[in-house]
Amino acid sequence: MLTRIKNLQEYKNVYAASVDDPESFWASQAESFTWRKKWDKTLDWDFNGPDINWFVNGKLNITENCLDRHLETRGDQVAILWEPNDPNVPTKEYTYKELHAEVCKAANALKSLGVGKGDRVCFYMPMVPELAIAVLACARIGAIHSVVFAGFSATALADRIKDATCKMVICSDFNNRGVKHIPVKKVVDDAMAMGCDSIEKVIVHKNTGDDLNMVEGRDIWWHDLVDGQSPVCEAEEMDSEDILFILYTSGSTGKPKGVVHTCGGYMVYTAFSFTNVFQYDPGDIYWCTADIGWITGHSYIIYGPLLSGATTMMFEGVPTYPDAGRFWEICEKHKVNQFYTAPTAIRALMAKGEDLPAKYDLSSLKVLGSVGEPINEEAWNWYNINIGKGNCPIVDTWWQTETGGILISPLPGITDTKPCYASYPLPGVQLVLMDSEGKEVEGNNKEGLLCIKFPWPSILRTTYGDHERCRQTYFSAYENMYFTGDGARRDEDGRYRIIGRVDDVINVSGHRMGTAEVENAINEHDNVVESAVVGYPHEIKGQGIYAYVIVNDAVTDDDEFRKEVLKIVTKEIGPIAKPDKIQIVSGLPKTRSGKIMRRILRKIASSDASNLGDVSTLLNPEVVTEIKEGALV
Ligand code: PRX
Repeated sequence: MLTRIKNLQEYKNVYAASVDDPESFWASQAESFTWRKKWDKTLDWDFNGPDINWFVNGKLNITENCLDRHLETRGDQVAILWEPNDPNVPTKEYTYKELHAEVCKAANALKSLGVGKGDRVCFYMPMVPELAIAVLACARIGAIHSVVFAGFSATALADRIKDATCKMVICSDFNNRGVKHIPVKKVVDDAMAMGCDSIEKVIVHKNTGDDLNMVEGRDIWWHDLVDGQSPVCEAEEMDSEDILFILYTSGSTGKPKGVVHTCGGYMVYTAFSFTNVFQYDPGDIYWCTADIGWITGHSYIIYGPLLSGATTMMFEGVPTYPDAGRFWEICEKHKVNQFYTAPTAIRALMAKGEDLPAKYDLSSLKVLGSVGEPINEEAWNWYNINIGKGNCPIVDTWWQTETGGILISPLPGITDTKPCYASYPLPGVQLVLMDSEGKEVEGNNKEGLLCIKFPWPSILRTTYGDHERCRQTYFSAYENMYFTGDGARRDEDGRYRIIGRVDDVINVSGHRMGTAEVENAINEHDNVVESAVVGYPHEIKGQGIYAYVIVNDAVTDDDEFRKEVLKIVTKEIGPIAKPDKIQIVSGLPKTRSGKIMRRILRKIASSDASNLGDVSTLLNPEVVTEIKEGALV
């Protein structure tokens, strides 16, 4: 049986055991799954490679653990509960038996097109059940899924398709999201026109049924392909370390990288963390509002809950449609027990007042979760009082695309909670704070750079097609450590508070973005010579995007120029990367070696320009005054 911690003493004991002898601890967790062949060795690792292998030579298929394993015990229990964008459209339910059959049909459909073990399949879909079904279908036949958030642009989609040389794209025709009607397949068509030569077929799921142009020989309707398939499909035998999926995420430099997760360790860790962080009991209705295009959706809508035999809800819509009470209406309607969302959503709903949540019966809620960015104290308190009614522990979960699962979080009802603190590490997670000189920061009441000194089962294994980049990014800052890119504080009792990124990554509404990516997009504008992008505190989004831009020819119409820049960013990345503020400047503050002093730009953007430190050593100190005077604050 997977360990489900029930009290504080047990947390302490389990944590101590997991650090004393991680291999025995994780082997005992792994025992609770169905393996075709047991592993020979629990762990083989070297952070210098990095070369990390969990459950060495173990054979399994994760979908047998998500689906087949539950058929006898809970075949008629709802596995996926789907709530549509339009509250007047009926909810859909798939029991474990039905989900198993649908996944097998989709798996057979993919096989009929020649998709097999190791092939990459790209997804560009809204939050419809077919997305979860097709993702699991890939895993069933050993194909590697690469889900791209359906808010990304055609250019961003094409980049990801090419990087992973995907064989297929699975998309929807259109998507209704709030009041918007989004032409999803059109974005795929545009991406295909950008030289995605590896793509053999585009599979189109009919979602809204609006008129569509199907490309002959390339495009196939999902229903034509899947409906007639057999509901039985033998799962492919996978090695623990075979790739389960690739998920692209942004870093400080260059294009987004494909984070690689593998079958065995990811399975064990997502199930373990789900069970403990959400304290899921049989019969509970669990709802994570994330999109499956992000890691939260992978680990805590699909895999973690299904591995645990839970009922997991998928929501197609947005929190503000038809009004800003939608989340609470859904909680009441489905008697949701565990609710997991992002601080940006809480802040946006908080701004709409307390009357909306007060209209609904939220008494079913037991645990409230937060993920993706720091949750400020005001939002934490509002969530606690207005949604949890002071009775639901808030689990502020810290983790990353690269970590695969939640690494720091309170355990509800077991460890205490404190606003702004993700608090304690989960079993098996060995956190350290480092200083900038490479020394460990010992003791409590200290700040440092957050690192992890021992592998946990769902740590990333590589970045797709570029192992050296993985080493450089995560394993080279400190010897024998995984570097998270976050700064953190350890309080007097050993709780961790995440301060934020220490690199050039910004977090806008919980969406992670590299400033370099946004700059590259802005620089595509004909009149832009150079740009520098920084984050600044934003009341709702957590961070907003502030762009400083040098132009070639003087801009006569500021508004028009702004619109053009936003259009380019939307085309290159997607609307989520649109700068909130654009300031035209004559120069950027640079060191004598030509490096942009972002620290100064960040301070100016954050209305904190009173103490910029000594700027006299800059190559061009005079621009600082100009930038300060023209700042859009
Ligand atoms: O800076 C941290 C922030 O989000 C980053 C990871 O982003 P991503 O890979 O997109 O994954 C988000 C969902 C797991 C982290 O480096 N972050 C995530 N959770 C928290 C957080 N910052 C503060 N508190 C959190 N609970």
